[in-house]
Amino acid sequence: MKQYFKVDEWKIIEEGFDPHYNKVAESVFSLGNGRMGQRANFEEAYSGETLQGNYVAGVYYPDKTRVGWWKNGYPEYFAKVLNAANWIGIDVWIGEEQLDLAKCEVLSFRRELNMKEGYLKRNFTAKTDSGKGVEVESIRFCSMVDDECGAIKYTIAPLNFEGEITLTPFIDGDIVNKDSNYDEKFWDEVSKAIDADNGYVQLRTKKTGFEVATAMKFSIEQDGKPVSIHSNPIQKEKYIAAEVKLQAKQGQCITLTKYAANLSSQNHPAAELASLSADVLTLIASKGFDTMLAEQAAAWSEKWKHNDIIIEGDAAAQQGIRFNIFQLNQTYTGEDDRLNIGPKGFTGEKYGGSTYWDTEAYCVPFYLATADQKVARNLLLYRYKQLGKAIDNAKLLGFKDGAALYPMVTMDGTECHNEWEITFEEIHRNGAIAFAIFNYVRYTGDETYLTDYGLEVLIAISRFWAQRVNWSAERQQYVMLGVTGPNEYENNVNNNWYTSTIAVWCLKYTIQAIGKVKEANQAKYNDLVAKITFKEEQECEKFADIIGKMYFAHDDKLGIFLQQDGYMDKEQTLVKDLPATERPLVQKWSWDRILRSVFIKQADVLQGLYFFEDNYDIDTIRRNYDFYEPRTVHESSLSPCVHAILAAKLGDVERAYQFYLRTSRLDIDDYNNDTDDGCHITSMAGTWMAVVEGFGGMRVKDGTLSFNPLLPAEWGALSFQIGFRGILLNIRISREGVTVKNLSDTEMNIKIYGTDYLIDANSENLIKSKLAN
Ligand code: BGC
Repeated sequence: MKQYFKVDEWKIIEEGFDPHYNKVAESVFSLGNGRMGQRANFEEAYSGETLQGNYVAGVYYPDKTRVGWWKNGYPEYFAKVLNAANWIGIDVWIGEEQLDLAKCEVLSFRRELNMKEGYLKRNFTAKTDSGKGVEVESIRFCSMVDDECGAIKYTIAPLNFEGEITLTPFIDGDIVNKDSNYDEKFWDEVSKAIDADNGYVQLRTKKTGFEVATAMKFSIEQDGKPVSIHSNPIQKEKYIAAEVKLQAKQGQCITLTKYAANLSSQNHPAAELASLSADVLTLIASKGFDTMLAEQAAAWSEKWKHNDIIIEGDAAAQQGIRFNIFQLNQTYTGEDDRLNIGPKGFTGEKYGGSTYWDTEAYCVPFYLATADQKVARNLLLYRYKQLGKAIDNAKLLGFKDGAALYPMVTMDGTECHNEWEITFEEIHRNGAIAFAIFNYVRYTGDETYLTDYGLEVLIAISRFWAQRVNWSAERQQYVMLGVTGPNEYENNVNNNWYTSTIAVWCLKYTIQAIGKVKEANQAKYNDLVAKITFKEEQECEKFADIIGKMYFAHDDKLGIFLQQDGYMDKEQTLVKDLPATERPLVQKWSWDRILRSVFIKQADVLQGLYFFEDNYDIDTIRRNYDFYEPRTVHESSLSPCVHAILAAKLGDVERAYQFYLRTSRLDIDDYNNDTDDGCHITSMAGTWMAVVEGFGGMRVKDGTLSFNPLLPAEWGALSFQIGFRGILLNIRISREGVTVKNLSDTEMNIKIYGTDYLIDANSENLIKSKLAN
């Protein structure tokens, strides 16, 4: 863990330039608006270590799979969100020397991500080899209002010379993904044009045929006055630029304002992209940078009204949660049901920008409480629409009769993952998709979703479980062999408790849902039965048989669920005994050593206890937590948040606080040494859960919100907003008690520490109660 960035409640600040930390900073300072996003690369050239990254949501390419040893059932392609045209570029030459912070002497440097208003600002002074000093400020953002656009204001002033400065704003589409399997470039050029102060490049993805026009328009001011632009147009393959030479005077600022647009054929006819992008640019340029920036601040202020979490008295914790909420909102706005949330969002290439179980297990709860109900519904519909492909995917592996196995990693429903122990065995993902349906219905009360879409998915997933288990004559029970649980530091194990638990839960929930749908709308149920040839009696009988006779690994002496058969045969060492120099294990140990060790990558049994806590008494949860937590290395970003929630439930507020810091500051402090290739976006939703479900103790029970708050000693108070069935609540937890503000016109019942309260419409209520800690 490093503490490289400055602590500030609303900003991330980097003071001074450390080139070794540049890739981490590029990730942390990333920008996005749901439609597009980018890493915090520099506008001017940079020949030092950098990961250049610009992304357009939903535009992907199926890269041919590359594996050392092909196995039947592997997918042929891995769909990747593409690294797209660079629209931020502005080459800067000072006389004959290029401005490049890897080559100049950096005299001062400050980078700041303003999360309140949604922009990135960079200030530096630098000296070239020949001793020419310049001062630069750049401000840029991806607009939340004009969501296909971004803008940059780049100001440069000579410190100690007069002479020529050349500014060359450009669009560069000649980009290759760093993770391209065969070093292939994924974009072809369609067309391009460059004029004095504007231009565009239109590209088409190979195979998938998505087209994206990336366009720019710019203006220049010198000493506060507009400069008429006489530029030298430059064109290369997939590249356009306009070179402008200016006579700079000491102390006089030159400001280049660059407007950019990224229009995709997903949203517009391909043939019109170039002209539409020119229209969009005319529109935003006529608004002007300052107006756009003011609109950006207003849009973010609106977001924060619904999403902000306020932690009083602990700036590092406050910064952490705001950073997480900020990045989540930059990644996914929920307006487009074709989009989803890649584990790295728009901050890097890792994980291909595709959809994982992270969405259902971690992100759905965040969006349920902080956005309109349709956002979580859109995330569910995304999977509903891919059901056919999930059935094909299961067929490929030998399953039949409408059994569905959702992919581990996907863009359009096709499996992309290609490591057998995950692709074929990490099947618990299917359970998370079913759980999200349950969670959505529990939270919103919208049972029509089950009738219209949910049940069809549940039956297909249950059919998979019914075929995936097998009867063990030896045990006279059903077993589930050859699986990988959430803990990927164990592969090909038998009877992973979490997987078996979620499978059986899913079978039970499917039977329940069948009852509900039949009662709600028999005609629609009959249609579904016909559509999927569902043999209710026979199939439900099988489901029930598995429910009754499933084997779960258990250690009677310790009174714990066993992560899998044979777990106790391992040498029972603990994380506290691991030298710091050997961590993270994934970077320091051989894979073989990891597999044989007791160490757990991420919550596994504990993930199950978190999902299904109502099925277990508190002592059972405690015993399992006390056993598994000391063996967990949290080398998946998805792990600390679940531990934080369980620690809070068990009343261990200090441990919960430590886990909270770890999850919320995971990227800011680069805990796992891996932020350089992108931020852990999906786990950020887990951070939100750690606050609201952990310290807030929020649960939904029988259609009612309940809270069991705790407050870490370091915090004066904690407040957050919750949207629930059309009502917006503000909850503030302090040592005086819990203040509940109902910001809606409808009254509402809630429970605090088990007591019922009626919260009037538009009211503020201080419920004096001792905190549980
Ligand atoms: C975790 C998975 C997760 C994936 C993407 C992996 O490291 O083990 O559970 O789905 O990252 O976040």
